Amino acid sequence: MRRSLIALCLNVFIHHAATNADSWCYTGCEHTPDHWQDLDGSFCGGQRQSPVNILSGHVERDATLGSFSFVNFSSRNAFRAIVNTGHTAKFLLKDNEVELSGGGLNGTYSTIQLHFHWGDTEHHPGSEHAIDGHRHPMEMHIVSLKKGLSVAQALEDSAGIAVLGFFIRATEDENLSNPWSALTSYLLKNTGTEVNVTHAISIDDLIGDVNLTKYFRYMGSLTTPSCHQVVAWTVFQEPISVNKILLQQFPLKTGLTNVYRPVQDLHGRQVFSSAALLLPPSHVWCYDDNCEFSPAKWHLLPNSHCDGERQSPVNIEAKKAVKDERLDGFAFTKFDDKHVIEYITNTGHTVKFVLKEGAMEVSGGGLGHVYSALQFHFHWGSSNPNSEGSEHTLDSKRFPMEVHIVNKRKDLTLEEAVNTTTGLAVLGFFIEAATIPKSRDAAEQHEDSHDSPDDSSDESMTGSWKALSSYLAEIQSIGSRVEVTEELSLAGLLGDVDLASYYRYNGSLTTPSCNEAVIWTVFKDSIKVDRSLLTTFPNRSGFGDVFRPPQSLRGREIYTTATGGALAPAIFFLALVQLCGFLL
Ligand SMILES: *[C@@H]1O[C@H](CO)[C@@H](O)[C@H](O)[C@H]1NC(C)=O
Ligand SMILES: *[C@@H]1O[C@H](CO)[C@@H](O)[C@H](O)[C@H]1NC(C)=O
Ligand SMILES: *[C@@H]1O[C@H](CO)[C@@H](O)[C@H](O)[C@H]1NC(C)=O
Ligand SMILES: *[C@@H]1O[C@H](CO)[C@@H](O)[C@H](O)[C@H]1NC(C)=O
Ligand SMILES: *[C@@H]1O[C@H](CO)[C@@H](O)[C@H](O)[C@H]1NC(C)=O
Ligand SMILES: *[C@@H]1O[C@H](CO)[C@@H](O)[C@H](O)[C@H]1NC(C)=O
Ligand SMILES: *[C@@H]1O[C@H](CO)[C@@H](O)[C@H](O)[C@H]1NC(C)=O
Ligand SMILES: *[C@@H]1O[C@H](CO)[C@@H](O)[C@H](O)[C@H]1NC(C)=O
Ligand SMILES: [Zn+2]
Ligand SMILES: [Zn+2]
Repeated sequence: MRRSLIALCLNVFIHHAATNADSWCYTGCEHTPDHWQDLDGSFCGGQRQSPVNILSGHVERDATLGSFSFVNFSSRNAFRAIVNTGHTAKFLLKDNEVELSGGGLNGTYSTIQLHFHWGDTEHHPGSEHAIDGHRHPMEMHIVSLKKGLSVAQALEDSAGIAVLGFFIRATEDENLSNPWSALTSYLLKNTGTEVNVTHAISIDDLIGDVNLTKYFRYMGSLTTPSCHQVVAWTVFQEPISVNKILLQQFPLKTGLTNVYRPVQDLHGRQVFSSAALLLPPSHVWCYDDNCEFSPAKWHLLPNSHCDGERQSPVNIEAKKAVKDERLDGFAFTKFDDKHVIEYITNTGHTVKFVLKEGAMEVSGGGLGHVYSALQFHFHWGSSNPNSEGSEHTLDSKRFPMEVHIVNKRKDLTLEEAVNTTTGLAVLGFFIEAATIPKSRDAAEQHEDSHDSPDDSSDESMTGSWKALSSYLAEIQSIGSRVEVTEELSLAGLLGDVDLASYYRYNGSLTTPSCNEAVIWTVFKDSIKVDRSLLTTFPNRSGFGDVFRPPQSLRGREIYTTATGGALAPAIFFLALVQLCGFLL
């Protein structure tokens, strides 16, 4: 009993050292995060504050950051009680049961409590830390004191407290019978009341299969007042997956929303990555100024062609485009096949859909060779619903998004193709919001059905985009990938866009190394999607404005198809007929 009281006092002290419980808040009081530094005895305006935005391009790998040793993380009776502090839900552990060491920490730390940071019931980001600006719906903090130190002593030691931070992502997985449901069953609205935990829950149960050797390390602070600068932070790269219904319990049952502190300035601090955390090399370049190689410096990258003579994207001036009779219809093979996408991956620069090798082909369209489709990916703007993020611009107008279907000449290897002026053919489509009236009841919809003569194609298009956006939820962390099992075809994504009217020019890849190996096709007709899909890309990936600025034409000509688009559906249909004939 006495021990428990001490633990409670320690916990309360750590969260509220030198301030009163109600003197600060996240929203709706005088001392919101911007004003925490004004509180008595506060360190919140200091130079080593937490949380921070971890820029993967600036992280330094430290080979001495190895694996942790955990004691009793798997113990199912280490949880003692839960308390709603008015700022978070905090689970108190039994005294002197749970410990950790290793992981580059100096010595052994005794774990005393864990608590959570979250957003709202809509799963808007509520994590405190961010990686490349990307936050997750929640974050769990496991708090440990340097073994043998009193709280007062720990607050005087520059590494007196070790906190393990875990990102939590929301899944649609309907499995509700896991340790998280036991944990969330304890969430309560009454503040200050301690409730005993009787379920058998272990910390390992909550962490699940997160790889504990992959983490970031930096020296920071407590993220609540008084923000003492005494924390050795460990932020694990892989998120814990929890059913979204369970995550909703945090705001619903506690009555607390948006309980996270915004990211703080690094003030020159270095963030390290563990020995096992190998960041993809692509992270050294980016679209903004938050990395070593912003677009203006891409030409300084090794083997870069980014300051060449035929760079992409470009601004297309419709009136100046030269008509070319040789630009005929395309022939597509298997574009309507619903099983050709192998996997989807978040590269940190885009979301890429990798196709099964040799499955889809493109020819005609004045290309002069047969090309096989490799992948398609997207370029987008910010999460502002009116933002624009296409790469090409038309008469200086930027569109909300652009999709690129990347094809390689069938007779070349990829290495040869990127060295050959006609090695790659990229098909670019602008994407914009469909202008569908907001609320129409079923009867009206029926009346309006002449708007969409081909209901079934419309439906398959909606279905394809829905499937696509549901996959986006699965690849929220950079480097992650998911196999595609749902039916999803390129034809479904393109819908009935006119494939016979397009612009043509000689250009390059629009990302480093910017190889000048691309025959560009930019279609005049845009793909129309539901407006909400446009913000799904920045919201799910966690990054935005992923487009390169327009490059100088340097005397290049842009060509255009000679006739209008009336033939397009017919040609596309023909290609399908050919395919069906082939199948029959
Ligand atoms: C781990 O838990 C067991 C059982 O509760 C306890 O007896 C033991 O002292 C704990 N180990 C440490 C190092 O705290
Ligand atoms: C461990 O101690 C060394 C030397 O005092 C120090 O440089 C380092 O930051 C400490 N690391 C942690 C995680 O406390
Ligand atoms: C649900 O979670 C429990 C506990 O983690 C696990 O044992 C069970 O296999 C899961 N069920 C499904 C259908 O995934
Ligand atoms: C909570 O646990 C403590 C210590 O085991 C015990 O003394 C107390 O009676 C319990 N409270 C309730 C309400 O069960
Ligand atoms: C964690 O990741 C490392 C490096 O990729 C790998 O070698 C190790 O097997 C992984 N551990 C687990 C438990 O998956
Ligand atoms: C591609 O071009 C580079 C530089 O011109 C050359 O070093 C390399 O061998 C070429 N690779 C292939 C596969 O042709
Ligand atoms: C692209 O460049 C080749 C020469 O490398 C030229 O023959 C061709 O006409 C150019 N195509 C366009 C569309 O400019
Ligand atoms: C994306 O995020 C913005 C800002 O947080 C929000 O207003 C918008 O509703 C979100 N869109 C979707 C589709 O989740
Ligand atoms: Zn915290
Ligand atoms: Zn692209």
